[in-house]
Amino acid sequence: MAATAFDDHERSHWAGRAAAYHGSFAALCAHPVPALLDAAGVAPGIRLLDVGTGTGTVAALACTRAAQVVAVDAEPSMLELARRHAPAADVRHATLPHLPLANDSFDAAVANFVINHVGDPAAALTDIHRVLRPGGRISVSIWRYPSPPAQQLWSQIFDAANVERPTDLPRLDPDKDFPRTCEGLSHLLGRSGFTHIRCDTLTWTHHTDPESWWSGPANGIGTPGVLLQRQDPNTIDRVRKHYDDLTAAYRDPDGQLALITSALLASAAVSAQPG
Ligand SMILES: C[S@@+](CC[C@H](N)C(=O)[O-])C[C@H]1O[C@@H](n2cnc3c(N)ncnc32)[C@H](O)[C@@H]1O
Repeated sequence: MAATAFDDHERSHWAGRAAAYHGSFAALCAHPVPALLDAAGVAPGIRLLDVGTGTGTVAALACTRAAQVVAVDAEPSMLELARRHAPAADVRHATLPHLPLANDSFDAAVANFVINHVGDPAAALTDIHRVLRPGGRISVSIWRYPSPPAQQLWSQIFDAANVERPTDLPRLDPDKDFPRTCEGLSHLLGRSGFTHIRCDTLTWTHHTDPESWWSGPANGIGTPGVLLQRQDPNTIDRVRKHYDDLTAAYRDPDGQLALITSALLASAAVSAQPG
């Protein structure tokens, strides 16, 4: 299976950006982690694979639960920070859907906001299914679509600043895409071989200071970051002005932003019967 144009774009998108991710959107992605570990049944001694570990948020919490954690990511700068944040984990370089890991070698796997970053989601989940033992469990989170309010706010800011959306960004091939709903994610898990599928929508308020929230896109993180990096300095100043205006309504008395967001959290199992 060759990497898609979408995967190539992802590799360049994350290259060297671990610190920028950690200082901005990693805190947003951290919210579902305890529920994700619960849904995968992470308990002392369990052999857990954290796929797309990023800067190691999930791996670090799993280590405090005394799981035996292998954490992998496709981006070297992420691995460096993951090793720092989860020193008890075995952190390795690996890229979905070609994990260099043995069949049936894990009791559980988690992927926190990763399946929405791969060019072939079914192939990625099928590869995770391969490395889980019969009866093993998986839990995954992704952003839902239509986008939640916190993410929509970026669109409103770019619209207010009259920034046109690029038309050349790689998209998933239509035959590999899936609806970003509980039904869509559940169906994807089912066609990747999983059973006992369950999906919930998590909604929460993300509290962040305005400079951290801006720093993600300002350093190229996420779709707003891709867009911002293509603008000239005057346009970036204009976007920043609209950012300040439009986020004002979300500031609490301490000046922190309170942004409502939501994500899908699904869990599933590998059939207990081998083969
Ligand atoms: C939004 S970040 C989430 C990181 C982490 N799970 C967390 O909760 O903070 C997505 C991560 O997935 C990694 N990633 C994207 N595509 C991948 C692939 N095909 N194989 C492995 N990792 C991948 C990226 O390098 C990045 O670290």
